[in-house]
Amino acid sequence: MNAKRHILITGGAGFIGSHVVRRFVRKYAEYEIVNLDLLTYAGNLANLRDVEHEPNYCFVRGDIGDIELVRSILREHRIDGIIHLAAESHVDRSIRDPFLFARTNVLGTLTLLQAARESWDGAPAGERRFHHVSTDEVYGALTKDEEAFCETTRYNPHSPYSASKAASDHFVRAYHDTYGLPVVLTNCSNNYGPFQFPEKLIPLCIHNICTNKPLPIYGRGENVRDWLHVEDHAEAIDEVFHRGRDGESYNIGGINEWKNIDVVKLLVRLVDEELGRAPGSSEKLITYVTDRAGHDLRYAINAEKLHNELGWSPKHSFESGLRDTVRWYLANEQWMTDVASGAYERYYAEMYGGEI
Ligand code: NAD
Ligand code: DAU
Repeated sequence: MNAKRHILITGGAGFIGSHVVRRFVRKYAEYEIVNLDLLTYAGNLANLRDVEHEPNYCFVRGDIGDIELVRSILREHRIDGIIHLAAESHVDRSIRDPFLFARTNVLGTLTLLQAARESWDGAPAGERRFHHVSTDEVYGALTKDEEAFCETTRYNPHSPYSASKAASDHFVRAYHDTYGLPVVLTNCSNNYGPFQFPEKLIPLCIHNICTNKPLPIYGRGENVRDWLHVEDHAEAIDEVFHRGRDGESYNIGGINEWKNIDVVKLLVRLVDEELGRAPGSSEKLITYVTDRAGHDLRYAINAEKLHNELGWSPKHSFESGLRDTVRWYLANEQWMTDVASGAYERYYAEMYGGEI
């Protein structure tokens, strides 16, 4: 039996956050889990249908940048741990609206840090923790042959998204070093799995193969990403939140580098098989389009520190994880249709009022 804890998870109705909430609600029945999410286009309560009535779970709709709201949640729920995932997360959107990314990712994080600092002032050492969930994109881009990113790699972000995440990481460390806030950080590579919004490469391609739409490949499809199943990420967050060393950063990755074009060809094969189409028949949908501005060539993660200190390593192999993911999207057509049509956003606007 674990000690009772009161944990605020931000961004819990998004892709990764919903997996973290589900894991904590199910695994730690004695904890209270509070999910704070604004329900932007990326947040969807359908992602948490299976745990929404659990007695140790509650949802608050609100903005991490609203300091009065955050203060009241920390006070009323006697929050002693924060796992912070809420963010604007899509690089292409950050190129169109960098100010939104600065507001949510930088000022939103700063607001949470400040509220935690006030609320936890004078608390006994070791009984509070702020876990900031970040990305490998803060390290910039690798050339084809460079060594994978480790925790001491110099920050060198290129997109407004990665710059905003890098800035938030710096604020987290500053609150640790200046005010003694107990923090840990994790920097993870590309995730895939159920409930990912179909603006990201893998769910976008699954959806487009099913509906016979073009598969847009930026540039020549030579960019490399290090793919990790979202449940492996949620497990790593669980380990670091509970057992990571104060003030430390941990890289999380799949040791699983793939060129985009090869991922898309694998998806074509898997979806065609599942749909009973002739093998490779959907390859004709592959369409090379203008490259993303500032497109990072390659990410790769060295996760040895996490493995050596906490014994974590990924459990899902890519091909079987991707096949299961394809099957999940095919079996959850309604989820995809609602998300793609924006129907769930209209539902929340009616339920909670106001603009989304
Ligand atoms: P997502 O876009 O699916 O979900 C983000 C969630 O944050 C949504 O539910 C949204 O409603 C919520 N949100 C946005 N602005 C908010 C605000 N102002 N107040 C409260 N809630 C708000 O994102 P994701 O892919 O699940 O990523 C989650 C976190 O993990 C992010 O911090 C991201 O930077 C990081 N990360 C993502 C990946 C990846 O591959 N997706 C990899 C490494 C790190
Ligand atoms: O590395 C971790 C990051 O991974 C996270 O921090 C981000 O939140 C997450 O969105 C993801 O960023 P990417 O930009 O790598 O993911 P995305 O799915 O947008 O793109 C993956 C690769 O595929 C990238 O090289 C761009 C390319 N791509 C993407 C889309 C959406 C295409 O070629 N065509 C597309 O239509």
